[in-house]
Amino acid sequence: MTKIMVTGGAGYVGHVLVPRLLELGHDVVVYDTMWFGSVLPNSPRLTQVAGDIRDQACLEHALAGVETVIHLACISNDTSFALDEALSTSINRDAFPGVIRACEKTGIRRFINASTSSVYGVSDAPEVFEDNPKVPLTLYNRFKWECEQMLAEADPNYTWVTIRPATLCGYSPRTRLDLSVNILTNHAVNKGTITVFGGEQKRPNLHIKDMVAAYEMLLNIPSDKIHRRTFNCGFQNMRISEIATSVKAEVEKAMPQLGTIGITVTESNDNRSYHINSDKIRRELGFGTKFTVNDAVRDLCQAFQAGLLPNSMTDDNYFNVQKLKALKVK
Ligand SMILES: NC(=O)c1ccc[n+]([C@@H]2O[C@H](COP(=O)([O-])OP(=O)(O)OC[C@H]3O[C@@H](n4cnc5c(N)ncnc54)[C@H](O)[C@@H]3O)[C@@H](O)[C@H]2O)c1
Repeated sequence: MTKIMVTGGAGYVGHVLVPRLLELGHDVVVYDTMWFGSVLPNSPRLTQVAGDIRDQACLEHALAGVETVIHLACISNDTSFALDEALSTSINRDAFPGVIRACEKTGIRRFINASTSSVYGVSDAPEVFEDNPKVPLTLYNRFKWECEQMLAEADPNYTWVTIRPATLCGYSPRTRLDLSVNILTNHAVNKGTITVFGGEQKRPNLHIKDMVAAYEMLLNIPSDKIHRRTFNCGFQNMRISEIATSVKAEVEKAMPQLGTIGITVTESNDNRSYHINSDKIRRELGFGTKFTVNDAVRDLCQAFQAGLLPNSMTDDNYFNVQKLKALKVK
């Protein structure tokens, strides 16, 4: 079994990924500022370090004995990034070379870098492949792209790979309700209506359990299949209006007591639309997705019904921008 560090491992993805890694028998170090707290399971094989990736000494110390790093830590959406651009830049771009160096110095063997499929920006291309031009529209996206390039230029002496996930959906013990499918489901369940801005824009989606399966695969696959390479990782590319229709249908089915869920369409000046192609990861690494957007909506409905998502319209912890505003992080 391997000792794995997950930076940002107390986030939305981390709260599904880390329990899975423990279940597989790995030793896990979560290295996270803990801005959203942690409800990760107690385990003798889990070490949680409240550390900042900008603190290289602390990071190096925590990396002792670690063989693989899954690098998730960052300020993880556009609106949170924009709250304090200097802070966000220090984390999402400036800290990255230090992370690469610390990993090299402490002798890790594999580094899995979480980028994003929004590095491409808006594209008229019917499908966006890994080599398509990168026209990142926001600093959050631009720095993800710059980190990819920094990693390639540094070309450290361990196996490294970059993955560009689509927008995630579904339940996590640290659910984010600021991601498109999750937002619409929360509104359907708790307001009885969904508001769609525009609706014609296409967005790629991926179930959080498939995201975790992709990381699991990248841990084990032979180095020569992934080293120095980049993979899109998405499943259903859907128009926002289609997502809304699916959410409405699933919520009405799962929670008939709510009656008919309304959909209101309003004008939007956000015409960002893209359709990512994820054939490469399927073809070359044999990665297949198992879960759909509808599954994610059903999982969220179950979580609402089980009382696992209390105060979901008001608790800051579900919404990165609100939480970071409240924390006044520096
Ligand atoms: N969620 C998505 O839809 C999605 C899509 C594409 C890519 N990604 C990428 O996947 C990764 C995980 O996303 P997520 O949704 O779990 O995000 P998240 O915001 O839930 O988790 C990020 C974690 O990083 C921690 N963190 C932030 N700054 C830190 C720092 N300086 N040092 C240490 N820890 C720090 C936070 O406390 C948080 O727990 C991110 O890199 C994100 O950009 C996510």
